[in-house]
Parts: sequence; C-alpha cells; structure tokens
Amino acid sequence: MCGIVGYIGSRKAIPIVLNGLKNLEYRGYDSAGIAYRVNNKIEIKKEQGKLDNLVEKVNPDKETFTAIGHTRWATHGKPSVVNAHPHHVGKITLVHNGIIENYDEIKKMLNYATKGETDSEVLAAYINYLYQEEKDILKVLHQLQKNIKGSYALGIIVDNDDAIYCLRKDSPLIVGIGEKENFIASDVPAILDYTKNYYILDNGDYGKITKDEITIYHDGKEVKKEKLVFEFDIASAQKNNYEHFMLKEIHEQKEVLYNTLKSYEKSTLPDLNKYDGITIIGCGSAYYVGMCVKDALEKNLNIKVDVEIASEFRYKRVFFSKKHLVILISQSGETADTLASLMKAKTLGVDTLAIVNVVGSSIARETKDVLYIKAGVEKAVATTKAFTCQLLLLLMLISQDNKYKEFDNLINDVEMALSKEQDIKELAKKVYEHDDVFFLGRLGDYAMCLEGSLKLKEVSYIHSEAYAAGELKHGTISLIEEGTPVIAIITDKEIADKTVSNVKEVKARGAYTIVITNQDVPKDIADDLIKIDLEAVYLPIIVIIYLQILAYYVAVNRGCEIDKPRNLAKSVTVE
Ligand code: AGP
Repeated sequence: MCGIVGYIGSRKAIPIVLNGLKNLEYRGYDSAGIAYRVNNKIEIKKEQGKLDNLVEKVNPDKETFTAIGHTRWATHGKPSVVNAHPHHVGKITLVHNGIIENYDEIKKMLNYATKGETDSEVLAAYINYLYQEEKDILKVLHQLQKNIKGSYALGIIVDNDDAIYCLRKDSPLIVGIGEKENFIASDVPAILDYTKNYYILDNGDYGKITKDEITIYHDGKEVKKEKLVFEFDIASAQKNNYEHFMLKEIHEQKEVLYNTLKSYEKSTLPDLNKYDGITIIGCGSAYYVGMCVKDALEKNLNIKVDVEIASEFRYKRVFFSKKHLVILISQSGETADTLASLMKAKTLGVDTLAIVNVVGSSIARETKDVLYIKAGVEKAVATTKAFTCQLLLLLMLISQDNKYKEFDNLINDVEMALSKEQDIKELAKKVYEHDDVFFLGRLGDYAMCLEGSLKLKEVSYIHSEAYAAGELKHGTISLIEEGTPVIAIITDKEIADKTVSNVKEVKARGAYTIVITNQDVPKDIADDLIKIDLEAVYLPIIVIIYLQILAYYVAVNRGCEIDKPRNLAKSVTVE
C-alpha cells in the first residue's frame, strides 16, 4: 500500500526520493507526490497515476537536500492530485501511510475546511493546530498519539526547521542510516541503493532525523534502537535481465527454497506434537499455503488443523484449549488482518508462531515465535517464491527426519519444473484468449487449484474459479461451454478416479482440458497432459511452479501489467 520515502543529507534530494519511490512501486499505488525544501521554502509536486507522471514534472537538479515523497493507494477519497500526498497545512507538510479512524471528529473539532477528501489532510491540519500551541514538534508527536485512532506511519517536514520528523503506529516505517545522510522509508528496498543499515521503528516510536543525527523517542524519552543490516544480496531486489520481477522470482525458487531448507536444523524447529489443535491463518495466497499443508499436518500430527482467512478469524467466536497453536503466514509480515488475528490469538492465551519473509516486520515482532523463510525481497505483487518457501517451511516442521531426507531431491525437481517453461509458454497460448477458466481438484489438489486460480486472475485479469471437483455439477457446470479451459490437478491417489470422472463430465460438455498429474490417468481425458513423475511430500511446490509459469505467460500474452496488477497492493496494511 502507500509508500513513504524521505531523505536528508548533502546530495540532491529529489532523485534519491524518486528512486526510492520507484523501488517501492511494487507496494501498489495510484498517485504520487514529493515535497522538498528550496531556499527554506517548501515546494510540493503531485500527480495522479504512475510515478513517471511525477518524474516528468519535477526538476531533479533543484538545489534541495531535504525531501519527503509518497505513493498513495487510495482509501479515503479517489485517486486525484488533491488527495495525493504530501499534504501541506500551515507550517506542516506530511506524508502518511495508514488510516486515521477518528478524522471526521478531528475535522469537526478543528472546523477545518479540507481541499480534498483524505484523513491525511485532516491529520496535517491537526498537527499544525497542535504545533501552533506547543511550538515543539516532538512534543506534538508524543501528544498526538493519545488523540488519534488508527494506523499511521508519518514523514513530516516543518517550515524553517531542517529535519525530517517521523512517527509510527501499525504501519511500517524504517529509518535508513547513511554517511552524512539519513532516510525514512516504508520498506528496505527504498534505501538499498544508498545503505544497507537501518532501524525499525516500533509502535509509538517517533523521531527527528537530520543529516548527521537520528534521535528516536518513545513516550517522551530518547530510546536506543538496534541497528539492522539488510542480509540479502542487493541484486535480489533488482530485476536483473528479466522482463518482470514475477518471472525472476519464479526462477529464484531453486535458490531460495535451498536457502530455506538449509536455514533450520530440525532440532531448532518448534515441536508441534505438544499441541492438541492448530489453526493456520493468512490472507490470499498465504491462506492457501495453509490449505495446501493442512492434510499433511493432520496426517502427521494426528490432530485437527483448521485454516482460517484472517479477515474472518479476527471477528469470529473461537474455542481454543490452552494447548492450541496459531500459525500466522505472511510474506510481508504487515498484513493488517493477519496482524489483528495474531493479536486476538495472543489475548486468547495460546501459543503463536509466525512464518514470515520480511525480517523485523510487525507480525514477526508481535508473535511468540517466528520462523523466517529465506525468500529475499519479493517485489511482484503476485507472490511466487514466498509461497513455495512458506509451504516448504511448514513441511519441514513436520519432517520425521533430522536431515530432512524427504527433501533431498527437491531442488532437482524444482529445476525440472522450471525447465518446462517453454512447454507451458505454448500452453498459455491456448488459454489466454478465453474469458473464463476453471480449476478442478479434490482436497489437497483443490488447495493447489485455489492458488493456481488466484495467480491467474490477479496477473491476467481472466475470470477464473477453483472448484472442489465434486461440487461442479451442483451449479457451476452450466458455465462450461465449447472450449472453456478447465485445468485439473490430480495427485491424490486415493481419490484420483473421482476427479477423473469429473474431468470426463466437463470434457463431455466441450471443455478444453489440461490435466496436471502424477497418476496414470486415462489419456483421453486430457487435451493437454502435464505428467509429473514424482511422489513426494513437496509435490505441491512443483505443481504450483507450473501454475505460476502458466499464469505468468497467459498475462504476457494478454499484455498485462504483470508486476503491479491494477488495484492491487503488495502489502495490505489496512483492513
Ligand atoms: C498473492 O499473490 C497476493 N498478492 C495476496 O493474496 C497475498 O498473498 C496476501 O495479500 C497476503 O500477503 P502477506 O503474505 O504479505 O500477508
């Protein structure tokens, strides 16, 4: 969602902030803006749409050494120049990521006539109001927290004061540490071209950033923060020679799955046998990770494993015993609903374990235990490498072997799946012109269908649905027409025959069928057969890689904006 970048130092600030915003584009946005200080006056430029629109309007050579920039993903008020950040009221110029829930109340109290429709503009007016009274912005940032409700990461510049101020609650914000220059940003990729060193702000932290000094406060007192160093190769956040991050990240799976496999000795992983029930929680693909491993966990641990959508779980009535474990899955570690579910689980007094990619993210810090996957920076909005690493880590948790013997061939098999790229590219040509696609499977195969279908629709904009194969004839089969693509996944030996019958039913009604299987299915059920000769606990990882490549090439054929699909954000930090 919204991206914040701020720079103060001795280099020209505009190109650095714009470059930082470029590196945060993956978060999703619909307008962008920048504010900078020239001869002690604040200038602001804002544009609707792509960041390039803003880049064209700003002179990068301006003699300015302090700037804050923002990419906005609309929540309150449509995407427009007036609603774009930075907002300037009185002496305050501000960029905001989050939602101020009581902004209407504040607006009435201030009797402030807004130019646009955003909560952020009201917040700027409120900070300006407090600043007029208090005259000390740090005191204002402390006091403010008692009076505003919601989530906020803020970057602020104040007239006649050469510093950047910041404040964070429930929306991510880091402070980048440079040499005679410092930064604020929503996420590490924004600053990686300049520094690998950073602090993570905790909820309630606020601070003053100058060229030479970073001072962070909490509850009126100065606090020392732990300096973190970005551990991945910077190239992992760049596109290298790939046309899209999504394809690059699909190919990186070989390496990142290996890194994830090697990063935890079995004896260091939590023992799940001590629980009498597990609930896995996530959103979107992270939820589907849970669906994909549910069966394996239940078989292995012999306990009930539920998988819940975070936005539902947070408002649900639940009955947990004290020996219950809640597992939170999240690539970003910032997803608002997953974070809220974690907080709910904590209040219920059960153990919590998060499987997260982004180090130091909110979920990673709030949970009792955290296991990091080693996916590196994932920039494409559609998750690929984080998905399969999360799947692997959950399977590692239930491995019976100290040396993870069952994964000995994983990397070879991933390589094998990636080597089929050209074949799948050809297959994509038979799919991309259709308006509707169906995925069919049962149990674990159905779970893979859910992820395959989500991947396809988010990047290609084709309407696609995953169906539990037996459910189709209860209504949906009426949608099957001559040539409708149906992708069936058949890897569960015990129920393979049942899905085969369902595929025959759609084929009899004219569907064009693609069957992905490791079973000996009748050849005539498939117009195109993808045979994977593999029996392995990690088979879902291999199947999903095929589906990722398919989604990618269907989207390429349709000319879609693959890495940043319309309306989507990489990190969904609002409810
Ligand atoms: C997947 O391709 C999606 N972009 C989306 O469903 C994503 O998995 C979901 O928003 C959860 O994000 P998280 O893993 O960062 O919590």
